[in-house]
Amino acid sequence: MIDTRHALYLQSPGDFRASSSCNESVPRMPTNLHAWNALLQHHDAIRDHQMADWFAENGAERVRQFSLEAAGLYLDYSKNRITPQTMQLLLQLADEAGVPARRDAMFAGEHINATEDRAALHVALRATAGAGFKVDGVPVMPCIQNVLVRMRAFSEAVRSGAWTGTTGERITDVVNIGIGGSDLGPKMVCRALSHLAHDDGHSGPRMHFVSNVDGTELAESLERLDPRRTLMIVCSKTFTTLETMANAHSARQWYLDNGVAENQLARHFVAVSTNVDAVRAFGIDPANMFEFWDWIGGRFSLWSSVGLSIALAVGFNAFADLLAGGRAMDEHFRTAPLERNMPVVLGMLGIWYRNFFNLPTSCMAPYSTSLELFPAFLQQLEMESNGKTVQLNGRRVRTHTSPVVWGTAGTNGQHAYFQKIHQGSQIVPVDFVAPLVPPRELPGHHAKLLANCFAQAEALMRGRSAEELRAAGMTDELRIAHMVFEGNRPSNTLLMEDLTPHVLGALIALYEHRTFVQGVVWNINSFDQWGVELGKILARPIEAELTGAEAGPHDASTATLIARARGVLARNG
Ligand code: F6P
Repeated sequence: MIDTRHALYLQSPGDFRASSSCNESVPRMPTNLHAWNALLQHHDAIRDHQMADWFAENGAERVRQFSLEAAGLYLDYSKNRITPQTMQLLLQLADEAGVPARRDAMFAGEHINATEDRAALHVALRATAGAGFKVDGVPVMPCIQNVLVRMRAFSEAVRSGAWTGTTGERITDVVNIGIGGSDLGPKMVCRALSHLAHDDGHSGPRMHFVSNVDGTELAESLERLDPRRTLMIVCSKTFTTLETMANAHSARQWYLDNGVAENQLARHFVAVSTNVDAVRAFGIDPANMFEFWDWIGGRFSLWSSVGLSIALAVGFNAFADLLAGGRAMDEHFRTAPLERNMPVVLGMLGIWYRNFFNLPTSCMAPYSTSLELFPAFLQQLEMESNGKTVQLNGRRVRTHTSPVVWGTAGTNGQHAYFQKIHQGSQIVPVDFVAPLVPPRELPGHHAKLLANCFAQAEALMRGRSAEELRAAGMTDELRIAHMVFEGNRPSNTLLMEDLTPHVLGALIALYEHRTFVQGVVWNINSFDQWGVELGKILARPIEAELTGAEAGPHDASTATLIARARGVLARNG
């Protein structure tokens, strides 16, 4: 049966045909699975039911049934448009789609990143030293442990003051130059754990993150820094990324312009990369390079040497606790039955809303300023992983894939866009995330924060009827019409006790695995990112044209934009 509700999404009947490169050994379409079609019918049957009625029937049982604990996280998913049958069908879909088998293939180091012919073995990065992870038959734990030992030694030397700048002064500031996965993950973690910066008794350096090739970002950071006390981490898996290399070259020039000689730069530059030749060519001694490997995707890399900035900011022990938290979630994902498996349950709820309610976006709302960068991290994780239209077998996906992910820390979002979430024309599923103990407390603040978090989820679920408003004495029907909340709007609530490195690691791994589960159901490769290539390729000739080369063939719009910018760039030298 074809899922006709998404027919408009298909561009032409040709979308259904196999491409010449199609791998017929992987023939399945998610929409052909038995459970998919059962879910379509089930959706028709329950889509108009009110969650509030289910809560009124037996709310306590509902919460018991639809909540889970794992690795220090408590997930309440009772405020969803689901019944036990919904969950049974969603889990059947996960099973039919091959989630357990693909999960096991990931943990076994198989080349599940088929389009790049690589393993996706970020789970090995947070495993214990004795774990048996292999890639292409070669044990990887010795290499991982070796890098971890070097990261510990280096981060402790910088934090204790044993590693100094070239003039012997203590390093007070570290700049991580990187973008995408070489920026968003470590920046998010450093922000989330900043309250631990001095926990090992040392005064950790201030961390700065520079990603954008817009010179404003680097220039503004450097203005505040003293080159004699500043260390740069050039963080790039490929060591070819335009933005990172441009910023790294400008940073090097800044040192040279400020009295640090070429032969003194070694005390101020380290590299994190898989590309030792490019690191050497840039002028960083490979002895000052922290390696990782091509079987780690950029957006899954904060657990590798990409996390060097984390170890520098909060100490290596906290970084090790982060790894341990990720490992606890890995163990849960690998072993828990599907119905008690948090990444699977969360992933399948996302499928329910994306594919059966046809909801185009989802909101991440951490009620924690410390987690304010989590939505940005999640944007890359979900949308770069699952923003795709081609299945593993080369055929076009016949349904929608990744939603648009957005959000900011609460309560700020309440005063900006929550209006739309409560009364807008499209439903937006929300994930609320809240630590019960605040990283930093001022008397009375945290109860207010949590109260607002819980109240938003409650309001979304129960809404407010016209009858309620009339019963409260309102008589102006026009006003009543505007003040009604439809309710029945879904959310998950994830609670943790303290925002420790361990629980943060579990939270990040939870969303990594949730993303993977959804990719398996859609039968796509969550570990490549071909969609970012074309713009990079087209930018090269345009950059040359902007700076003097003869104009190349472009559409009229692009040609006009280039011409306008070229004139201004020429005037400004
Ligand atoms: O352009 C996308 C991307 O390739 C991401 O996947 C990656 O995280 C980012 O660029 C940075 O890449 P690199 O670490 O190689 O500089």
